[in-house]
Amino acid sequence: MPNADSLLRSHAAERRRLHVQAEVWEPAGRALLDLLPAPPAARAVDVGCGAAGWLPLLDEWVGDGGRVIGSDVDDGMLAAAGVFVDQRGFERVDLAHDDLFASRLPAAGFDLVHARFQLSALGRTSEQMRAYRRLVKPGGVIVLEDPDPSTWTFEPSAPAAGRLIEAIVAGFAARGGAFDAGLRGAELLASVGITGKVRRTVLALPPEHPYLRLPLQFAQSLRPELIELLGEAALAELIAGVNDELASPRRVGRTFTLVQSYGRAPA
Ligand SMILES: C[S@@+](CC[C@H](N)C(=O)[O-])C[C@H]1O[C@@H](n2cnc3c(N)ncnc32)[C@H](O)[C@@H]1O
Repeated sequence: MPNADSLLRSHAAERRRLHVQAEVWEPAGRALLDLLPAPPAARAVDVGCGAAGWLPLLDEWVGDGGRVIGSDVDDGMLAAAGVFVDQRGFERVDLAHDDLFASRLPAAGFDLVHARFQLSALGRTSEQMRAYRRLVKPGGVIVLEDPDPSTWTFEPSAPAAGRLIEAIVAGFAARGGAFDAGLRGAELLASVGITGKVRRTVLALPPEHPYLRLPLQFAQSLRPELIELLGEAALAELIAGVNDELASPRRVGRTFTLVQSYGRAPA
């Protein structure tokens, strides 16, 4: 049975969503990296980088003499990431086809291991944590970024969008993911012997911001699950309702909370 992530993969709409997402969360990523100075000739990996992920931030973080690997198991995502890396001229970034559950990346090879929306999408938390722990050098940092959906709301309130968000969270769970994985970040770092710190970011989205439409983009990517949960007719009605709500030029929103959990492996 495919898990939530396999259903999110490969679609052009999903790749576009990942680009918008990378831009939206870039300031939060930069703010965290400002607290974590890179060693000389730093090595960093963005596990499951998708179409963009943290590649721009890590290219900057490693600086001259450093290297970044963006790894993903999906060739469509890697192709999109390759175009992005070329367009932006990131000369320190290499892309690698790599399955994190059978990784061929070097053990203890990285000063920084980043994984965003991987625990929430895949839900194989113990295996994932072991994989990230294997990659990090002694004294290196693991950064996990996952959502807590509790803040994901609209103003004026948008009841149809609220119902769609509930269905999206249930759709992730039905396929083995956990949309609220951000809530467990520190506990998961502790499970691999790392004392974690946590930062939380919620963004206010102004009228007509493209990220306001995130529930509709998920509805497209997770359509099979949502049909299974709601039925096709009810899903179509719900989506029409959300489209009406989001058409209002006065509607603003708040994002889900981005929970950044990070900590250093013992030296
Ligand atoms: C929800 S997307 C997140 C992408 C990116 N981290 C970001 O924040 O924009 C999940 C990504 O994990 C990748 N992925 C799924 N299973 C994987 C695996 N076993 N090994 C490596 N990457 C995987 C998918 O192809 C997809 O690009």
